[in-house]
Amino acid sequence: MPFSDGLSVGMKKRSVLVIGSGGREHALGWKLRQSPDVEKVFHSPGNAGTENSNIPFKATNLDELISFAEKEEDCFTVVGPEDPLAIGIVDRFQTKGLRIFGPSQAAAQLENSKVFSKQFMARHNIPTAEFGVFDNPDAAVDYVKSKGLPKVVKVDGLAAGKGSIICHTLEEARDAIQRILVRSEFGHAGDRIVIEDFLNGYEVSYIGICDGKTVTPLAMAQDHKRIFDGDQGQNTGGMGAYSPVPMVSEKLQEAILEKVMKRTVNGMQEEGHPFKGVLYAGIMVVDDEPYTLEFNCRFGDPETQPQMLRMKSDLLPYLEASVDGNLASLGPMEWKSGAAACVVMASRGYPGVYERGKVIRGLDEVATMPDVKVFHAGTAMRGNEVVTNGGRVLNVTALGSNLREAVELAYLAVGRIRFDGAHYRRDIGYRAIAHLGGV
Ligand code: AMP
Ligand code: GLY
Repeated sequence: MPFSDGLSVGMKKRSVLVIGSGGREHALGWKLRQSPDVEKVFHSPGNAGTENSNIPFKATNLDELISFAEKEEDCFTVVGPEDPLAIGIVDRFQTKGLRIFGPSQAAAQLENSKVFSKQFMARHNIPTAEFGVFDNPDAAVDYVKSKGLPKVVKVDGLAAGKGSIICHTLEEARDAIQRILVRSEFGHAGDRIVIEDFLNGYEVSYIGICDGKTVTPLAMAQDHKRIFDGDQGQNTGGMGAYSPVPMVSEKLQEAILEKVMKRTVNGMQEEGHPFKGVLYAGIMVVDDEPYTLEFNCRFGDPETQPQMLRMKSDLLPYLEASVDGNLASLGPMEWKSGAAACVVMASRGYPGVYERGKVIRGLDEVATMPDVKVFHAGTAMRGNEVVTNGGRVLNVTALGSNLREAVELAYLAVGRIRFDGAHYRRDIGYRAIAHLGGV
């Protein structure tokens, strides 16, 4: 059977408003629609995959979003991307008595400010690379000279994933420092920088739902950030993801939960900014020890896509419990065994300049494939046709009884979808498949 888009039984009562327009938001809406407590899901602004439930407001258009939520009876809002969190969407909704899932603006500093998050980690003994904070370029260069290379130079504020520059030579470090602190290429986001030790290991995404006190972990996932196979080329928002991650032992998961997630939630509570919402720790594993590279205060994209395919539990009660502060009463989430994999199909040129408006074919055929779900990202309707409308276009996601099967099925579906200039990686899951010995 192909996946149902949520014909569930029981009392349907809640409207859910999902803010954002990516594959993550399509996947969240798809999953929430299956909840017996959800009557309707709206997406704002959404994409062609969420076409019948879209309302037209941008994710940062808080006034319009608030007036929509006020008019809709019993509306529960779920925020996808970081920008609205950074400008205080949760605080604004709550002031109006509206229910919304996500961190307050003060708690979202964990993502919005690398300086805040690194200093917070130091205060609470959360493992992370050694670092310094600078607003003076000469002092920053002196630090690199005295501590040695390689180093990573990071813009303090939000920089759409482009704010971390890996520097192998002093010249590269000088150039990065100049670009950020002197030439202000990142605007005020770059008024301060973090310089930290380069860590050599592999990255995993540890994502949990928090209610200020408790962390309920999601299944582990790993994304593929670089544009080309073998992790080559520029960083992107993510070219694919899979779940679970077989390289990560139970012991390592426990270490991340205890040393990173729980210390963060306890620390935020102690400091008077209880953390509610999604806490996403980007972890570098070095010699089987976790180091925190960064925090995000939102679900991962594309990690959410395979996670939603594997999630057996109803998502809505967990999101509501996060808001209400009673996550502990729900216990852990349940997951389908086996694995899920997501292959991102992108426009030619992404993450640089790309064209829009290319007709996408094959979606109807793929919609009939069992265990496959195509979550849309940069797509739009043009008349009756679905056309490309962004850099990351489609998230072709599949379930399998093991990772190899999930990956093969996702690629079978990818092969049936066509648009001019489609680019995708051919090696999603390669590390895990090699780790499993090709299983
Ligand atoms: P961030 O903006 O902190 O998420 O960093 C973006 C990417 O840069 C990460 O996903 C890593 O691939 C890389 N990176 C960041 N910090 C470090 C570090 N200390 N050592 C090695 N790679 C890093
Ligand atoms: N996949 C990386 C992110 O969501 O930030």
